[in-house]
Amino acid sequence: MKKLELLYSGKAKSVYKTDNIDQYLLEFRDDLTAGNGAKKGSFQQKGVINNKISNLIFKELERSGVKTHFIQKISDTEVLVRKAKLIDLEVVIRNVAAGSFAKRYGLEEGSILPLPILEFFYKNDNLDDPFINDDGIIALNIATKEELEIIRTAAHKTNEILKKMFDLAGLNLIDFKIEFGKTDSGEIILIDEISPDCCRLWEKDTNEKMDKDRFRRDLGGVALAYLAVLDRLSAQFGKE
Ligand code: TMP
Repeated sequence: MKKLELLYSGKAKSVYKTDNIDQYLLEFRDDLTAGNGAKKGSFQQKGVINNKISNLIFKELERSGVKTHFIQKISDTEVLVRKAKLIDLEVVIRNVAAGSFAKRYGLEEGSILPLPILEFFYKNDNLDDPFINDDGIIALNIATKEELEIIRTAAHKTNEILKKMFDLAGLNLIDFKIEFGKTDSGEIILIDEISPDCCRLWEKDTNEKMDKDRFRRDLGGVALAYLAVLDRLSAQFGKE
């Protein structure tokens, strides 16, 4: 495999073409952003940590039958993935009220939700990723009704698997954001990453935050929290 030109540089990852037209290379950088890029930071080894966490999780998801872009780890910060066209949606699942959901509905953070709540946001930086419902998604040609059903089912299945994984690692999965893409053959697969950047993870016994909220809310200890998540997952699911 040969790494070719940079295709796209996102807030924390870069995507490169490879000499295989069906495969991309993702590079995890040390950058850390919040508030749609308004707040910027970084810490050493973040790229390595998130690449490891995400690969370990994607492997478990594949093992449980969730179709993902994961092919193989290439280096500490790089992973080879299946090429897919991003579907412009941020798919959020919430098990416990927190963040924008708690604020929107005037709930106390930490209120248990009686069922997992799936929300769609239109992935558009210029518009600050607004909330969107199924009709809006179909009307704006972001995805078809059939594709939305596939995404919904895959997202809920991902939630069930992640909840169990994190539980074994002593962490409560409060909520998370995932993204999907479409391959040239029309298959919908899970893409992007799953890491403390895009999950809320609370320590089971203490409710201590072990995710990007430490950065968003200036709580300190960001790197230590990310490393602890990796160590705990690795202890349960083996070194990726
Ligand atoms: P929210 O409560 O701010 O809507 O976030 C819900 C979950 O989605 C939380 O785990 C953080 C994650 N998320 C992202 O990964 N990227 C984003 O741009 C947003 C808004 C949330």
